[in-house]
Amino acid sequence: TLDPPALVAAIQALKTELNAVILAHYYQEPGIQDVADYIGDSLGLSQQAAQTSAQVIVFAGVHFMAETAKILNPDKQVLLPDLDAGCSLADSCPAAEFAAFKAAHPNHLVISYINCTAEVKALSDIICTSANAVKIVQQIPTDQPIIFAPDRNLGRYVMAQTGRELLLWEGSCIVHETFSEKRIIALGLDYPDAKLIAHPECEPAILRHADYIGSTTALLHYTQTSPEQTFIVATESGIIHQMQRANPEKTYIPAPSISNCNCNECPYMRLNTLEKLYYCMANQSPEVTVPPNIAAAARKPIQRMLELSR
Ligand code: 13P
Ligand code: SF4
Repeated sequence: TLDPPALVAAIQALKTELNAVILAHYYQEPGIQDVADYIGDSLGLSQQAAQTSAQVIVFAGVHFMAETAKILNPDKQVLLPDLDAGCSLADSCPAAEFAAFKAAHPNHLVISYINCTAEVKALSDIICTSANAVKIVQQIPTDQPIIFAPDRNLGRYVMAQTGRELLLWEGSCIVHETFSEKRIIALGLDYPDAKLIAHPECEPAILRHADYIGSTTALLHYTQTSPEQTFIVATESGIIHQMQRANPEKTYIPAPSISNCNCNECPYMRLNTLEKLYYCMANQSPEVTVPPNIAAAARKPIQRMLELSR
């Protein structure tokens, strides 16, 4: 076994050898973030995947993100350190059930959050992320009925922001649903100057107390530009690594969950480790593949998203 500095050196060497780029989400462990070429939210990661000239994309994130990169780059190899790195939101929306739901509402436009499988993307008209969901819904004519899937919390947030009615799929994220309103309020009493910043996957009971709501990139940007010194962070705690790097003098408190668990670490994201990252590059496996017919159908709504978010 290699120690972390040796792993980092070996990963750097493989990057050159394979002509690879490492794309990482903010929820990855700090060691993975530090070796990545690009760290971002789901929108930024898709934009990077769409424009990379590298031959191999090493995706340090979860399966639906690597799948999106593969759909945009059918001729490139996309590696994922652990194929079991899934997502509770994607799991909450099985394609067959979603197809039946869509068939029951034939006049609806289907807008799906990127946290879904390639099969569900293939059934969608437009993909969105937490960074552009409001902006995309605002661009749809007001008389057009819309299905929004799979995250009901993001859906309810978009409804509140746009004043539009959306037909929601009832999915949710196991990380963002475990924050405790009661404990967050109690923490606020201990830190009266702290700002509560939250991801829109949180429940309405949490969002109504938030001083700022946004995607992971937007939350990071807010901590960098806000004059405030203390933040209660209601999203996966991996993002705090970049907040600390950018402004080490500020204080970041992970929002408390309903029980004393490690609930604000995503169990899927954290399946990836620096060691597995090294091995997936050394072995060029595990690799993420998408059947060509599904990829072709899923590419259109992703490309529409990229066009609408320019
Ligand atoms: P963003 O980074 O796009 O805000 O998404 C958060 C998330 O839960 C990814 O799985
Ligand atoms: Fe999925 Fe939630 Fe994990 Fe994001 S944090 S990958 S939405 S389970």
